[in-house]
Amino acid sequence: MNPSVQKTLRLADDAPGHARAAAILRDGGLVALPTETVYGLGGDARNDMAVARIFEAKGRPRFNPLIVHVDSVARAQSFVEWSEAADRLAQAFWPGPLTLVLPLRTDAGLSPLVTANLPTLAIRLPAHPVARRLLSEFGGPVAAPSANPSGRISPTTADHVRAGLDGRIAAVLDGGACDVGLESTIIGLGDTPALLRPGGLPLGPIEAALGRTLAHHGADDPLVAPGQMASHYAPGARVRLGATTAAPDELLLGFGPMACDLNLSASGDLTEAAANLFGHLHALDARAPAGIAVAPVPDTGLGLAINDRLRRAAAPR
Ligand code: TXA
Ligand code: MG
Repeated sequence: MNPSVQKTLRLADDAPGHARAAAILRDGGLVALPTETVYGLGGDARNDMAVARIFEAKGRPRFNPLIVHVDSVARAQSFVEWSEAADRLAQAFWPGPLTLVLPLRTDAGLSPLVTANLPTLAIRLPAHPVARRLLSEFGGPVAAPSANPSGRISPTTADHVRAGLDGRIAAVLDGGACDVGLESTIIGLGDTPALLRPGGLPLGPIEAALGRTLAHHGADDPLVAPGQMASHYAPGARVRLGATTAAPDELLLGFGPMACDLNLSASGDLTEAAANLFGHLHALDARAPAGIAVAPVPDTGLGLAINDRLRRAAAPR
């Protein structure tokens, strides 16, 4: 199966669509699937060939491990050493936009490519009904990074997936637009619970559920999620942050009441801004400007994750 010459099927969210998607996963093929955060590029996490195809289709460096998606807490517990902290967070936020990094069980039976040989595994129980239906119909662990070419903007619709990966994957299961719009928050549950990546679940409720504050690691700390390269989520256009007006060759992405080409949220709502972030970046980039100027977004709540993605989109490439 050469990843560059397949015909990518668009599957509907109905019984034949799910049956076909599950059959492709069983055969070691790749299916992009909607989750509430972003679309994931799914493959059987136990199958070395399937996992190798994920890295190949995305052009992703092999040292960057993948998140495994499951349909139940019991299935998660069969892959990782569960803990009391994991239980608290899973009770409070699963299914939902939260990924837990826990010690990998020795009997997990996953492809070593999934974890890039780390002793830990990132695992998540997504809330999206289409993802949950496919995960249960498949009945096994699905490794799924965001369904975009490595380093580019994450996909929040089936069309975004097609624009980036058409011809490189077997199918995309179309579940409409993702409501959260930002990838999951990643929490490492080693000796000290730590934020490894800000994301679609804000930190306040996580700290409340744990009954303690989270450690934050610096960007060059080896404990930080290894895939968080400085330059990521990059559109073709260069990105300039903190802008109030656009230069003549730029398009302006606004926030709050202002004149602009597209607005993340005219009312200044961070949840709406998160849901629009990647879609608006895709839409502005499709107009092929030299640059995209982005208005300031407050650094609170979901704004932390929005600004994290914007900084990486603007980083030198
Ligand atoms: O919302 C999401 O999390 C989406 C959907 C599809 O589930 N997935 C996603 O995957 O964002 P990806 O591959 O784009 O980002 C996964 C991040 C990477 O930064 C990776 O380095 C980190 O998770 N990661 C995976 N396994 C890890 C581990 N064992 N320890 C620390 N970080 C890990
Ligand atoms: Mg990604």
